[in-house]
Amino acid sequence: MGTLEFVKTATKNLLRKQGLEIRICRSQRPQRLAHAKAAEFVKAMSEVNLELGAGPAKGKNGWVTIDQCEEADINWDLNMPLPFPDETVSNVYSSHVLEHFFYRDLIRLLADCHRVLKPGGSFSACVPDASIYVRAYMNPETFDRSFLAYKPAVVSDLRMDWLNYIAYMDGHHRFMFDRDNLLKLLTEAGFTDVRSRDFDPTVDMFERKYESIYAVGTKPR
Ligand SMILES: C[S@@+](CC[C@H](N)C(=O)[O-])C[C@H]1O[C@@H](n2cnc3c(N)ncnc32)[C@H](O)[C@@H]1O
Repeated sequence: MGTLEFVKTATKNLLRKQGLEIRICRSQRPQRLAHAKAAEFVKAMSEVNLELGAGPAKGKNGWVTIDQCEEADINWDLNMPLPFPDETVSNVYSSHVLEHFFYRDLIRLLADCHRVLKPGGSFSACVPDASIYVRAYMNPETFDRSFLAYKPAVVSDLRMDWLNYIAYMDGHHRFMFDRDNLLKLLTEAGFTDVRSRDFDPTVDMFERKYESIYAVGTKPR
């Protein structure tokens, strides 16, 4: 290789390397920002109450929100480990979020909530009750069509499509819950005193009450 050719190749390789490094830095920036924000909340607040998947809504009563949407306090993909250190969060809450994860990702997310919670902290969840639609399949004459509220997910008025509605929700849902499997998942994630709970107006959305089940568990001390 001549000198000129050598210089050209070396420059190209260098630029490629720098470009790659710049891309790595850019892609890591949002993650670093989320970790920094989480650390700030931990430092500034006597107790961090963390709401998963709040959407664009402001955190209720001082809850810190974490969601893939930009309006959240912490912009984050919940398929990745939470940006909080171990045992730094007092309580975790989620409403109509857990059903958006495939089973294995859900197990990992619940285990990670357990990791970030302080001993004695609670994990509280509200999820859509899929048993409503299973009962409807078995007793179609009793089904109230207002349960099919999200129109993009309504495929037809056949009974099987009522099940498709809750199972897939136009591609948003990946897992179905009833009371039994919700309690089992929380127990298997290491929470104790796992039980169903009533609607709680301080955190739960009234608009979701008709279609929801609620559960809570505690990280042992
Ligand atoms: C059906 S909305 C629920 C919003 C609100 N919590 C409620 O009860 O109405 C589901 C929320 O979960 C969030 N979500 C779903 N998958 C997510 C993921 N992998 N990472 C972060 N947020 C996610 C969505 O952005 C959305 O805000």
